[in-house]
Amino acid sequence: MPSGSGERPAWPIGLDGIAYGCDYNPEQWPAETVAEDVRLMGEAGVSFVTLAVFAWASLEVRPGVYDWGWLDAVMDALAAAGIAVDLATATAAPPPWFSHRYPDSLLVGPDGATRWYGSRQAFCPSSTDYRQAAGELTGAIAGRYGGHPALAMWHVGNEFGCHNPACYCDRSAESFRGWLRRRYQDDLGELNRAWGTSFWSQAYRSWEELIPPRQTVSFANPGHLLDWARFCSDELLGAYLAERSVLRRLTPGVPITTNFMSFFKPVDYQAWAREVDVVSNDHYLLGHLPRPEVHLSLSGDLTRGLAGGPWWLMEHSPSAVNWQRVNQAKAPGEMIRNSLTHVARGADAVGFFQWRASPFGAEKYHSAMVPHAGTDTMVWREVVDLGAKLRRLSEVAGSRVEADAALVFTWDSWWAAEGEAHPSSEVRVVENLGEWHRAFWEAAVTTDVVAPDADLSRYRLVVVPNLYLVSDAQADALAEFVRNGGHLLVTWFSGVVDADDHVRLGGYPGAFRDLLGVRTEEFFPLPHGVATALSDGSTGRRWSELGRSEGADVMVTFAAGPVAGSPALTRHRVGSGWAYYLATHLEGPDLDALVGRLVDESGTRRAAVVWPGVEAVRRVSGNVSYLFLINHTDEAQTVPASGIDLLSGATADGSITVGPGDVAVIRQPAAG
Ligand code: GAL
Repeated sequence: MPSGSGERPAWPIGLDGIAYGCDYNPEQWPAETVAEDVRLMGEAGVSFVTLAVFAWASLEVRPGVYDWGWLDAVMDALAAAGIAVDLATATAAPPPWFSHRYPDSLLVGPDGATRWYGSRQAFCPSSTDYRQAAGELTGAIAGRYGGHPALAMWHVGNEFGCHNPACYCDRSAESFRGWLRRRYQDDLGELNRAWGTSFWSQAYRSWEELIPPRQTVSFANPGHLLDWARFCSDELLGAYLAERSVLRRLTPGVPITTNFMSFFKPVDYQAWAREVDVVSNDHYLLGHLPRPEVHLSLSGDLTRGLAGGPWWLMEHSPSAVNWQRVNQAKAPGEMIRNSLTHVARGADAVGFFQWRASPFGAEKYHSAMVPHAGTDTMVWREVVDLGAKLRRLSEVAGSRVEADAALVFTWDSWWAAEGEAHPSSEVRVVENLGEWHRAFWEAAVTTDVVAPDADLSRYRLVVVPNLYLVSDAQADALAEFVRNGGHLLVTWFSGVVDADDHVRLGGYPGAFRDLLGVRTEEFFPLPHGVATALSDGSTGRRWSELGRSEGADVMVTFAAGPVAGSPALTRHRVGSGWAYYLATHLEGPDLDALVGRLVDESGTRRAAVVWPGVEAVRRVSGNVSYLFLINHTDEAQTVPASGIDLLSGATADGSITVGPGDVAVIRQPAAG
């Protein structure tokens, strides 16, 4: 619940069913375009737009001088058409007049060089001038539009930290010192202990000596870097909260969001999610990945874990983006599959960046719902088709996604695990987590991505990949899950350090040694591309280690090399549950086999019969469930299922054929 407010506003005002819309930037177009836009939005079934995200310069044309006319007209036209507005505070891109007037508000890099204006987000998150001006603009917008009939939700800033995640200027240094004093309760000795500054003559004797981790000649202090990462996320949050407090004061009943970016390393969304009324997320397909659609699903599962309920897909792209090495257009049907995958994984809104493709500016080659070529295009026809499909899925809104399994992930651990001067740079946390997620995806098992502090009692199976840094309380929560009957699997390089990034002495995996019944004495990381044979015929990669069981059953051992005979997979009975340890990285069929076994042993439900290439996810509401079957193959797939396909209207009796690249959403009775 947001601090200082009453009941949490649950959802944007006046939006039922699955909301459908986009970022809308009318300030970049002649005023006459608006009428045509609104007409076309009606044709596509658009029910919301996100407005004025980058409109600061068009609204506050000079300091304190506002031009509201164009936005009044757009808001009125949208209200008349019944289109709801997620209205931005317009603070994501300060105009040149601001940056010119307040040069100290500009961001400074770790090298000490200023990052100039001329792009967007050109501000230091700690700048008091920026916060002051952003607060005034927010207040002016809220004052003018807080009671407007089109207003459904406030959109604070945009993708906080996307381009300005950390600033190393003197103002940021001062703010960092304040943050450290609060964290260590004014006890410098405690900071020196936490950072381990007896190493390399790094002891601090006064708070004034503390600076951001600016570029150094060799490795920086890891405690310094970790606290800096925590500070930077909090500092951006401070900028968000400053605007939120203005909005709360002026419009207490209007929900507030800001758009997240899935696995965006600089911002700890598990902390941020507590501060937004509606969790909204942006996701863009990463064309270089072998299976971008699986990564998309992972993003949805993370966002659902953050939201704990329905969430809002704020942005994805109708077709190509403009910021990858090669910006691939989406194949026929791909955009619809992408959109419906987000819905399957809990989105009750589908938004695009953006409405109309720009003829100018840095994003002129980014796709849009209305392409450069106009409406006689595949993109537009699919946009209209998607609108119709979402209307047919209205009843799905508000249902919850069925997930008996979870993957554990925290930002703190991610920051620490990928630090410099570690045993191996093969510890790529999200990539390794993604491999687990893929295996569950293939097994038709949906996984929430959550912190160990979440309510784990709802899961039967929890996997903890590379949770390098873990607090005592987090380790206890995972042990409690096992004692109560859960199946838990912890992977290599987990539990190694405490919340200060100090190694837990006495053997790895430190925090989990007793729970897992194993003790590792030395890591033997594997060079990139080098594999190691395991006793059950499978192949370990990236990692091996020398250890022994201390109470666990050894199921698989390393079969060759310096750690031959050492446990690779163990299982330990604790309370009424099982705690597994995997001391290496598995991929492909080897991991699939392990996941299949864990799923069966733990009684984890699959959404449907496993069907290669068909993604299956289930949403449930009362005694009704909705089975999403997304066919990612080029051939029709006939999958066992019964019920009514909400998209085609067809009745399936025992099996349903999902066309190549097509989607079915089958209404069925929920299993008891
Ligand atoms: C997002 C951003 C949008 C647009 C989009 C392009 O990061 O919020 O404004 O730039 O990317 O893919």
